[in-house]
Amino acid sequence: MKGIVFREFIEMVETQFSLETADAIINDSNLTTGGAYTSVGTYPTQEIVDLVSNLSLRSGTPVPDLLRHFGRHLFHRFAAVHPEFITNHASVFALLCKLDDQIHIDVQKLYNDAELPSFEHEQLSMNSMLFIYHSRRAMPDLAHGLIEGCIAYFGQTMQIERVDLPSDKDGAHTRFTLTVEG
Ligand code: HEM
Repeated sequence: MKGIVFREFIEMVETQFSLETADAIINDSNLTTGGAYTSVGTYPTQEIVDLVSNLSLRSGTPVPDLLRHFGRHLFHRFAAVHPEFITNHASVFALLCKLDDQIHIDVQKLYNDAELPSFEHEQLSMNSMLFIYHSRRAMPDLAHGLIEGCIAYFGQTMQIERVDLPSDKDGAHTRFTLTVEG
């Protein structure tokens, strides 16, 4: 997992929980880096899993809720740090259509050895889109939060229906159906 994700997570814990909580979960987790990550470095995905699990133990908030919350936060941070990937898309559906074959491809060029998920999408109607997440990292809660962050970023209102499909040798698969409300 790229260091940018770790840095944003630790910064979120520092500002939204406390500096002490951030230090404590770093100490609780068995990290190769002692908690010092560079944005372009690559670190074991297990370390983010450990940090989130230890935040869950200390805060009493379940891991899936924390990952979803982090996903919402992360989308806004991506928009601040990498507006070039986001501002040329006019809406949630327009961005999600380009995530797999454009945005994450460009991300891969910038952050070489990034391990990105893959997505399928299908526009079901003017107001509704199917979006399926596939990943060996199995982080559908993070994907869910990123989608919610994307909806908030564009100021749209949407209903998200989520179905976690059976995992297999290719990892986790989750189907999101997004429907514009109002
Ligand atoms: C709603 C839109 C998006 C969704 C649903 C999404 C989903 C995800 C998920 C779930 C991961 C974690 C890895 C995995 O599950 O395999 C990830 C990784 C990542 N995404 Fe996206 N993403 C979105 C938009 C973006 C944008 C706009 C950027 C541009 C800055 C971006 C950059 C990255 C980076 C740098 C990683 C880390 C890769 C690594 O650690 O190896 N994503 N994305």
